[in-house]
Amino acid sequence: MRVERIPSKEALYERAVAIIEEVKAQGAHTFGLATGGTMEPLYAKLCDTSIDFSDAVSFNLDEYVGLDPTHEQSYNNYMHHHLFNQKPFKASYLPNGLATDATKEAARYEALLNEQPLDFQLLGIGVNGHIGFNEPGTSFDSVTHVVDLTPSTREVNARYFDSLEEVPHKAFTMGIQSILRANCILLIAIGESKRTALQALINNDYTEQVPATALTKHPNVIVLTDLVK
Ligand code: F6R
Repeated sequence: MRVERIPSKEALYERAVAIIEEVKAQGAHTFGLATGGTMEPLYAKLCDTSIDFSDAVSFNLDEYVGLDPTHEQSYNNYMHHHLFNQKPFKASYLPNGLATDATKEAARYEALLNEQPLDFQLLGIGVNGHIGFNEPGTSFDSVTHVVDLTPSTREVNARYFDSLEEVPHKAFTMGIQSILRANCILLIAIGESKRTALQALINNDYTEQVPATALTKHPNVIVLTDLVK
């Protein structure tokens, strides 16, 4: 794992774009993508580049269960708004929030991922160390599945909804194994609130209580953070 501490957010996001550009130039075809506040400036910067994703495929990490893909707060909508409308991919996959059988939908998504293995995976990190919606306690052997969101994650995400009650209680997420199968992983951790979770990762702790620490066993992880020691 390579940790790059870049105190200037501007420089950090430029570095992230350069990494994605390099990975793409080296032939990466299948990109795992994330949502959340951390990714917004990155996608804005990517949209300002000449990188062409029209020959590439994307898979998102997660999606809310029960939200129509056109719902303002669906991750499908987030991705179109922040990236896909400006930088279309040949194909972009997210779990279908309205699937009638969520368990079957998770299995369908995992099968798609197996057919088109990820060359690259972009990750943010939750305050509690979650990656995707893999909350503390998730098995490191997990594949795409349906999760009950923890009260703390629902509260953190409530800022995007009109009220806490509107935040869905369940979500689809790639599992830890689905994420670890990616060839190269870029994790971005910005802000003091991420310090404890990031520290566990950097300390090489390996515990299902901090899902991000699964990455310590992956051979090709880059961590970009604005947190200097
Ligand atoms: C979203 C995702 C989440 C976020 C994490 C951090 O697709 O995978 O794990 O990366 O919750 O979110 P922000 O960036 O809003 O702090």
